[in-house]
Order: sequence, then C-alpha cells, then structure tokens
Amino acid sequence: MKLIVDYANLEKIKEMYMYYPVDGVTTNPSILAKEKRNPYEVLKEIREFISKDGELHVQVISKDAENMIKEAYKIREELGDNTYIKIPVTKEGLKAIKILAHDGVNITATAIYTQMQAYLAGKAGAKYAAPYVNRIDNLGSNGVKVAKDIHDIYVKNNIDTQVLAASFKNSQQVLELAKYGIGAATVSPDVIDGLIKLDAVECAVDAFIRDFEGVCGQDKTMI
Ligand code: E4P
Repeated sequence: MKLIVDYANLEKIKEMYMYYPVDGVTTNPSILAKEKRNPYEVLKEIREFISKDGELHVQVISKDAENMIKEAYKIREELGDNTYIKIPVTKEGLKAIKILAHDGVNITATAIYTQMQAYLAGKAGAKYAAPYVNRIDNLGSNGVKVAKDIHDIYVKNNIDTQVLAASFKNSQQVLELAKYGIGAATVSPDVIDGLIKLDAVECAVDAFIRDFEGVCGQDKTMI
C-alpha cells in the first residue's frame, strides 16, 4: 500500500518526507485554502520538492464536465502531465473522467461515498478511486468496509483502478486497509504521526538507555 500525505504545507510535507516512507502528496481545495496563498504558487513549490516524477494529486473546482476538463488541462500545464487530476464522482464528474481518461490524463476519482460510485469511476478509466473512510463512518456506515468492497469489485471485474483510501481519523483505519492490500492511502500528517506514536515504545527505548548509562556513564552511546 502506498502511503501518501494529504496536506499542502510545504514545511510539513518536507518533515513527512524526512521521517516517513511516503510516496506522494494529495491536496483538495479545503487543504489548499488553509495556505491562504495563490494555489498554483503552493502547488508548484510542492511539485519542485517532490520532483517531476513524484505523485501529486490536485482537485478541480468546477461542477460541470466542460469546465472540469478545462481545469484539468490547466493543472497539467502548470504542474506537469503526470499530475493526477482529482474529479468528484458526480454525474458530470463521470462524464469528465471518461473524456479525460480516454485522452490519457491520470484521474483520481474523489468524493466517493459508495461502492457504485467507485465501480462507475473505475469503468470510466480513473487510475485511482478515493473513498472517504472517516466521512463514511460519520454517516453511520463503515468506511473501511466500503474501501475493501471497492478493492474487491475492481479485482473481480478486472478493472485496472487502485483504491486510494482517504479521510482517515485514526491509525486503526489505515492499518485495516494495509492488511487488506489496497493500493494506497492518503493520510494527514497528524494521523501518520499516530501510526508510530506509542508510549510503550518510548518507555522501552528509555529503559535501554538507562541500563546502558548505568554502566557506561551519562550520555554515553556506542560512538
Ligand atoms: C482526499 O481525497 C480527501 O480530499 C481528503 O482525504 C478528505 O479528508 P477529510 O475528510 O479529513 O477532510
């Protein structure tokens, strides 16, 4: 499972790349708005940092297919042809996905709350489909199960689309999907930190140091 950072702040993205084995960056309009700057300025800095081959996902704003397609081409022009264009899976979105995928544009179908949306987006040619795990949970359904179902639908129907699960609020949701072998998860920095923040680990490391220093002296290491 690829691990992608769902964020737009460059300093935080750099920190994530320094500490964790991450595979790319996703953004959405709300995440970009938090930076309070021209979105292309922000995105170009991210593109430069992750290099032209790094995986970057950028969402369109328009609600009609014609303008979604225009935005898709503008985003590619500004950020490179390998940028994944995130398109919400509405009826208009599906029309745009079909046309853009046919033209060879990499599509991440987003705002997915149901298995049927994902099935249609996959058949329309999207490279990724992004179910919103935690938002689905908040509607009283089971986001992890929806993401697993989508994975199964693609495998059983020979649809060449990967699940890019999104909207996580805890590490358990991420772990469940890693165990299932879905294609990718896009996760905010605080939840990525949560994947490794364990008091027991800190306690174990501190005990090793105390034992070692007890014999070799304070601040001594293996250097
Ligand atoms: C990804 O495609 C979504 O934009 C994002 O993960 C939504 O996350 P949120 O529910 O935490 O806003």
